[in-house]
Amino acid sequence: MTKPASVKDYIRTIVDFPHEGIMFRDVTTLFADPRGFRMAIDQMLHPYAGERIDKVVGLEARGFILGGAIAHQLSVGFVPIRKKGKLPGTTISQDYKLEYGEAIVEIHDDAISPGEKILVVDDLLATGGTCAAGIKLIERLGGDIVSCAFVVDLPDLGGRKVLEGLGMDVHALCS
Ligand code: PRP
Ligand code: ADE
Repeated sequence: MTKPASVKDYIRTIVDFPHEGIMFRDVTTLFADPRGFRMAIDQMLHPYAGERIDKVVGLEARGFILGGAIAHQLSVGFVPIRKKGKLPGTTISQDYKLEYGEAIVEIHDDAISPGEKILVVDDLLATGGTCAAGIKLIERLGGDIVSCAFVVDLPDLGGRKVLEGLGMDVHALCS
């Protein structure tokens, strides 16, 4: 009997993207497959059964695809954290370092109310820089982060330790 496909089976690796030496874990192949995508959303939700979650925050860009589906499934609102200059309203900003560069992320300053329970969602955890910046933004608005959920953790890059060092609960479907 053949083994049923796992989430990892739907993810492909593109070598030397976006720079030489980077093994880019491409989740578009997971998103494009109806069974793979549903499996990923169901498995990402699983740890939070029975937990209060008021809003899902997604990190640009692939966190929007996952976070939107998860928010819909939980019947809660979705809030985007975007790269600098993309959000139209009044924002707060946070800079951070990436595996390959530097960036600034922003959130609308009225997107989260103090005390709201937040689930943070992204496709991939590498150095943890992006998510740590997102966490800072959410906490500056008074949000209470329940957990950070990813499809992929790249353990060699240490992101889980960074987020756990900030007191976060971290879940990833594969590494
Ligand atoms: C990727 C990925 C995460 C981040 C993880 O996004 O989707 O958001 O990197 O890396 P880190 O843990 O080292 O911060 P990317 O910066 O490529 O942006 P994009 O989704 O807008 O393409
Ligand atoms: N973001 C940071 N590092 C990455 C990688 N290796 N694959 C996909 N996204 C990433």
